[in-house]
Amino acid sequence: MGRFDGKTAIVTGAASGIGAATALRFAREGGRVAGFDIQLPQPESWKSIEEAAPAASFHSVDVSAEDEVKRAMAEAIDQHGGIDVLVNAAGVAGGGPLHITEEAEWDRVLGVNLKGVFLCCKHALPDMIARGGGTIVNVASIEGMIATDGTAAYGASKGAVIQLTRNLAVDYTHQGIRSNCVCPGLVDTPMTAVVTRAQEGPLQKLHQAFINSHLVGRAGTPEEIAAAILFLASDDASFITGSSLVVDGGWTAGRREGIEDLLAGG
Ligand SMILES: NC(=O)c1ccc[n+]([C@@H]2O[C@H](COP(=O)([O-])OP(=O)(O)OC[C@H]3O[C@@H](n4cnc5c(N)ncnc54)[C@H](O)[C@@H]3O)[C@@H](O)[C@H]2O)c1
Repeated sequence: MGRFDGKTAIVTGAASGIGAATALRFAREGGRVAGFDIQLPQPESWKSIEEAAPAASFHSVDVSAEDEVKRAMAEAIDQHGGIDVLVNAAGVAGGGPLHITEEAEWDRVLGVNLKGVFLCCKHALPDMIARGGGTIVNVASIEGMIATDGTAAYGASKGAVIQLTRNLAVDYTHQGIRSNCVCPGLVDTPMTAVVTRAQEGPLQKLHQAFINSHLVGRAGTPEEIAAAILFLASDDASFITGSSLVVDGGWTAGRREGIEDLLAGG
């Protein structure tokens, strides 16, 4: 018996990275999956999801466009009979130092990462309310909790998602709808590949600096983030709402300055 037998999970960003790993995990745990994405999934990746969940459906949708979200949500409800879980994983990187960030770039990053979450929640909630419950898991980032250089638009979008998650919890938990978010550290996905797969030069150095910041000494995998998302979406997390679960290999816990080695005479 799977944790999500008979449940329908909508996963945005399901064509790639964390969203694809999350959709696959839901399928393997008995869920019916509706994937939303602006790009088509890799055929092999979607085939694995369909093998685990034959009723899986894929919907081409730009999460930052209300008419598209409304249409895709109605299609998914029609096909699967309702929504039990919504995972907002669609996202884009971008921004740069604020004084050279174009208005269009700010709007693009906030449009997908924040407005996309707003729109998907807005159009999933009426069905959850009518059916008496559900769970929402938003994919924020530790960059919404601590600032890293050159990521103002991205960090602002993710900080806002953390707060939006709390607002959702306050507004809807009493109607049986829990809302939480995960805050991943660096995860090896197509979004970060330019850094995580760099073999030399400044990008490889940047990757090493990130790795050094993670106490576990490596980037995370999409499957490790999916595991945390499924925990929050499951009944195992029945007393958790409005929370932000840090899944960052120890990045935000602190850092090693070499004091231990010094005291040990190293
Ligand atoms: N990879 C990391 O290090 C990391 C760390 C923290 C948080 N995150 C967050 O995790 C989430 C997933 O990222 P990922 O690393 O798997 O990246 P990814 O690029 O592999 O996947 C993101 C997916 O979102 C989709 N998407 C982008 N814009 C969209 C739109 N307008 N409408 C619908 N779909 C759209 C993309 O097509 C893609 O399939 C994002 O919200 C990201 O910000 C990633």
